[in-house]
Amino acid sequence: MSSEMEKADDADKKYSTVMIVDDNVVNLKVAKNALSEFYDVFTVPSAVKMFNLLERNKPELILLDIDMPEMDGHEAIRILKDNPDTSDIPVIFLTGMSSPEDELEGLSLGAIDYISKPFMPQLLRKRVDLHITVEMQKRLLGDQKKTLEAQRTELEYFNENLQKMVDEKTGRVLELQSAILKTVADLVESRDNTTGGHIARTQRTLKVLIEGMDTLDIYKDQMHEFDIGLLLESCQLHDVGKIAISDSILNKTARLTPEEFEEMKKHAVLGVQIIERIASGTSDSDFLKYAKIFAGTHHEKWDGTGYPNGTAGEDIPLPGRLMAIVDVYDALVSERPYKKPYPHEEAVRIILDGKGTHFDPVLVDVFKQVADQFPATNRE
Ligand SMILES: [Fe+2]
Repeated sequence: MSSEMEKADDADKKYSTVMIVDDNVVNLKVAKNALSEFYDVFTVPSAVKMFNLLERNKPELILLDIDMPEMDGHEAIRILKDNPDTSDIPVIFLTGMSSPEDELEGLSLGAIDYISKPFMPQLLRKRVDLHITVEMQKRLLGDQKKTLEAQRTELEYFNENLQKMVDEKTGRVLELQSAILKTVADLVESRDNTTGGHIARTQRTLKVLIEGMDTLDIYKDQMHEFDIGLLLESCQLHDVGKIAISDSILNKTARLTPEEFEEMKKHAVLGVQIIERIASGTSDSDFLKYAKIFAGTHHEKWDGTGYPNGTAGEDIPLPGRLMAIVDVYDALVSERPYKKPYPHEEAVRIILDGKGTHFDPVLVDVFKQVADQFPATNRE
């Protein structure tokens, strides 16, 4: 060890306190002389006085004589080790009783070392140095462990809170998104006097159809890619493009002329454009991605004769194929200024007739299985 390191080490030791307990005044003096240059030393003439002093001072080490009047060292160490306040103070026996049996008894009572009297002052110093150093390292490790545990607890608490905050924030964003969406959907519907309640009904019908697909294991892999909750929310925007269609067409009570129908058909592309405009101002959103699919593909037909793109078969995204069935079914069973509502059975028959031409044949089979549930779900 370099002399500078020794100095630093000694400086640390000076902050350590050693208590020497012995009824022999000469021994007390010799031991104090050997240690006082490097340690704060308390000399105590009896074990009873040691306990009095311990109430005010806790040393880093106790050198304890064994053969003393009133209370001997063995009894004193038992009391020390029984008390949680003093049990961690290392004790070295300092005694003239030096048979191996004495030594063994002393160590078995919890002493960390055993120094025989008479002792060489330098040897006493070295032994005390060694135990104080070990003690300091033990405390340092203990402190580091406590600090680490405290940091870990703090980190766990922080993580827990962070997760809670993120969950709350996400919940609020989803609530807000849902409220805005509902408002937009209501707005679209309020402009179109002919289709009251269409959005809410198609949403419920779609839910029944999707549940039927799940029960029958239809398009299972594809459906797993979708968040069903978001899918059902976003389907409300399938006709959002109608917001850009003129009132004269939207509210016409007679059937549309071919030209007017061409104009009306634009709502699919307009819907995509509106959603793209919303999406350009937000970060990635599955919700808007689904909404765009619904808006742009719900009028495509399985045989490729639909609009706006004439896409056919499984090239039409699954949500669009589903919405095509749900949308037509609802239009059939709903009253329009120019037509009476079809009875449920008649509407089902028309959908079944469109299997493989207008509609995805696999989905029509599911529709057939669950169609009985529709009137109940559509009761306002
Ligand atoms: Fe539409």
